[in-house]
Amino acid sequence: MEKKTKKYYIETYGCQMNKYDSELVAGILGKQGFEEANSLDDSDLILVNTCSVRQHAENRVLGRLDAFQQLKQKNPDLKIGVLGCMAIRLQDQLLRQKSVVNFVLGPDNYRSLPDVLAKLSNGERQSRFSLAEFNNHEIYSELYPNRATGFSAWVAIMRGCNNFCSYCIVPYLRGRERSRPAKEIVAEIEKLVDEGFLEVTLLGQNVNSYHDENHDFADLIAMVAELPGIERIRFATSHPKDLSLKLIDAMADHPKVCNHLHLPVQSGSDNILRLMNRNYTRSHYLKLIDAARSRINNPGLYTDIIVGFPGETEQDFQDTVDLVQRVEFDGAFVFKYSPREGTAAYQYKENLTEQEKVARLQYLNQIQDAITLKRNRELVGQTQKILVEGRSRKAKPNQYMGRTDSNKIVVFNSDNNYKGLLKEVQIIAAEGRTLFGEISQGVR
Ligand code: 5AD
Ligand code: SF4
Repeated sequence: MEKKTKKYYIETYGCQMNKYDSELVAGILGKQGFEEANSLDDSDLILVNTCSVRQHAENRVLGRLDAFQQLKQKNPDLKIGVLGCMAIRLQDQLLRQKSVVNFVLGPDNYRSLPDVLAKLSNGERQSRFSLAEFNNHEIYSELYPNRATGFSAWVAIMRGCNNFCSYCIVPYLRGRERSRPAKEIVAEIEKLVDEGFLEVTLLGQNVNSYHDENHDFADLIAMVAELPGIERIRFATSHPKDLSLKLIDAMADHPKVCNHLHLPVQSGSDNILRLMNRNYTRSHYLKLIDAARSRINNPGLYTDIIVGFPGETEQDFQDTVDLVQRVEFDGAFVFKYSPREGTAAYQYKENLTEQEKVARLQYLNQIQDAITLKRNRELVGQTQKILVEGRSRKAKPNQYMGRTDSNKIVVFNSDNNYKGLLKEVQIIAAEGRTLFGEISQGVR
């Protein structure tokens, strides 16, 4: 009898780096002869790529693992692996607490996946494995991710983080910062162009501190922008202490570098920024925003904010509100502070109740939503070029979505599926956080 092809299913939580890592793992599994399953029921291997940045993200995964119990009862040969940040934070504890889990692999250990699977299929009865070790040299150089779309690719340019913001667990889970050589990144993007990709997003926990022996991040961006065939270049995430005017100039000088800047401020209060160990001031941040707005054509500015950090007074919070109102971001991701064991801030005494944190979160979101709407309305009547990503999330029939250069989502009706193509749309309305458009006539 012909041997049945094994099928895998990967569920991914957390940041873009995690989504990229899942594609890397899919590439490893592809080489082993695995195929992607259409559904959980249909799979021989389920991988959950996890995030530990907030307790809420971990809780979702823990609940999910319990739900897999049923699948395992139906299919006792099913293997379940936990990847990513929770693998490092919880390690063997996951095996002990969740009997459905067969193995745990940390972000630097994905090369070992074929070995672990071989051991498990050899039926080693004790066969539950945990491999969650740092390898501060691992950059997965020659592995080629199996990417989810054929038009927009994530490319990791560095891994790890050296910043130690006091609230953040990432440096403890992803190890020290290391960059891939620019030559190698450029070669990967050339290959992507050959395969038909139009857009790349360069990823790192702090891309502004990218460097190889000869190039900093602005150099790298300029090199990528010169490559024929690439139409759009994005990057994430930036740190205000390292974002250089040279990079802002590179964004302004190269039309293919999107006018999209995600620059997490975290707080508008100097007291809180100091406690967060962010190493910049509110005034430095505002200067960067001014520089971006004066040099780049109408940039899309996005930020992350934590409310309810230990010690955040009403005045500190108002300073954040004031900064948000001054900057008028295009979008802000606002989070409630979540204490992470092992970080410096875990020792700080919290002064707010859960309700007070929720109230600050809701208040700030309300203010930002009004600003987002105002910024979006300024685009009504304009023509924007979008890269069509496919059906819109809550799609009605014939409804599709794409993104502008500045990373705003535009929903439009169309009889044709232009997925993966750049199209011009006229913006006709702004509602909530979304723009609505019409495909411009006569444009192919
Ligand atoms: N609590 C709440 N939000 C956090 N972030 C990072 N660590 C925490 C934490 N302990 C947020 C930051 C970061 C984003 C990815 O997650 O705003 O920019
Ligand atoms: Fe979450 Fe951070 Fe890990 Fe990304 S690096 S998955 S945001 S903890």
